[in-house]
Amino acid sequence: METMQTLAERLPQSLSGRIALLAATAHIVLYVGRAIHNLYFSPLSRVPGPFWSRISEFPHSYNFMRGDGVPYVKSIHDRYGPVVRIAPNRISYSTPTGFRTIYGKREHIKDPEMYIAPPSGAIGIMEADEVNHTRIRKYLGPAFSVKALEEQEGLIQGYVDQFIEGLRQRKNEMVDIDSWLDWTLYDMIGKLALDFDFENTINARYHPRVNNMFTNFKLMGLFYAASAYPWFYTFVQQSLKMMFARRSENYNFIQDVVKNRVRSQEKGKTDLWAYVLEHANPGDLVEKELETTGWQIVIAGAETTSTVLSGAVYLLSVNPGRTQRLVKELRKRFKSEKQISFDSVAKIPYLIAVLEETLRFYPPAAFGVSRVVTQVEGSEIDKVWLPQGTRISASQYCVFRSQDNFAKPDEFVPERWLDDHDEVFENDNHDALMPFSYGKRNCIGRSLAIVQMRLILARLLWNFDVELCDQSRDWIEQRSFLGWEKPPLYVRLTDRHHRS
Ligand code: HEM
Repeated sequence: METMQTLAERLPQSLSGRIALLAATAHIVLYVGRAIHNLYFSPLSRVPGPFWSRISEFPHSYNFMRGDGVPYVKSIHDRYGPVVRIAPNRISYSTPTGFRTIYGKREHIKDPEMYIAPPSGAIGIMEADEVNHTRIRKYLGPAFSVKALEEQEGLIQGYVDQFIEGLRQRKNEMVDIDSWLDWTLYDMIGKLALDFDFENTINARYHPRVNNMFTNFKLMGLFYAASAYPWFYTFVQQSLKMMFARRSENYNFIQDVVKNRVRSQEKGKTDLWAYVLEHANPGDLVEKELETTGWQIVIAGAETTSTVLSGAVYLLSVNPGRTQRLVKELRKRFKSEKQISFDSVAKIPYLIAVLEETLRFYPPAAFGVSRVVTQVEGSEIDKVWLPQGTRISASQYCVFRSQDNFAKPDEFVPERWLDDHDEVFENDNHDALMPFSYGKRNCIGRSLAIVQMRLILARLLWNFDVELCDQSRDWIEQRSFLGWEKPPLYVRLTDRHHRS
């Protein structure tokens, strides 16, 4: 009796104090109730996952916020299997068929949490709804066709000339090859997507408007991580004002370039807009949408490809036997640099194998891009039924590094992609490698990226011997926010044609 009295005396006496106490109690009851529901009564309760991830968004948000989201999801797969619950309403797949079943269905729409509105508010290809997306893909199609690629070869080769020449001037010095690759890829995409020359490579520095483009990936990653907590979302928005300002400056610049280019109506060039203007039904073109799409193509089209190339340079440098094999094949096959072309690089199986293995080992879009189940009746994905509203993803890193899909998944073995591979790799599931995703919203720039990667790597290794500097021994240990946060990759290059 006395204890009850003491307790009552301790309770807040004022009305506001009592309301606060009531609100806090209601909050706790709600939280516990929701946790019990998530654990035992949710339709997702049968999907395995760590206790805290099944009851709270916090571990998912926290790890993604820190840039550890990819290893966090991988560790859950390693422990609980190929279909796991990474947050109360998020299911991750590392099954070989996950890409097809998740990204192949139109009813699994893009997760709005993953996309922050472009600075102008005008939508582009990335966040367009299904109807608008079909229209955009249709008018962009001719610009990414085989014919367009063939016509663009001269332009692309020209930027590789600048890249090689820039490196030749710095032979025997320590160079950050990651920046050089970034500069070259931004130069190429600038000319192809904007008809604008950023002149990064020629000036050996980032043009101010493509410097910090990684900011976009980082912002998207941070917002995705914070999306479960509205108050935190606002906090992130407030504290990242500088990043937003930079993003808007880049956007405004590209917006103006695209506007002028499209208004000029100039055909007969080999940039994206020449193909669009020539083939599209004018009624399908919406100026603001073209501007946002141009900006998104620049973001999507340079950093990804340069990441794979930096990854290949690093992985080859720490695997000297494999470098020797590739270098030998390239230098035997090509007597002069002029022979290295889109066509001829497609006939070097070991070069192709090295790039496939780099995409497997170090995929630029390592993160599982999230989709949402929209069907009222739910959706069955790889024998697991998921209700409407479930967020689903297949992380490339988790699929490609799964023992179930590839033997010795944590070893860099390009030979696994060759016909005469060791029998250990006999059961590797090649169909599980989908670095460009799958379905109607897969990568529109896939063919371009493939020729760029083959050409640049072939010409780099044909010209130079590459030695990794000690500062970059652990380069591959990186955080990831939608893309990998790459530090400089220091190498020393020896020019095999001009050794002095
Ligand atoms: C190795 C290089 C590349 C990789 C690994 C890659 C990967 C991807 C992936 C996984 C997606 C799907 C994203 C999603 O579902 O939300 C995607 C979409 C996209 N990519 Fe790439 N990409 C690469 C290069 C390029 C290039 C060179 C371009 C353009 C020049 C490009 C432009 C795009 C665009 C515009 C989309 C959105 C497509 C749509 O929504 O219809 N990418 N890419």
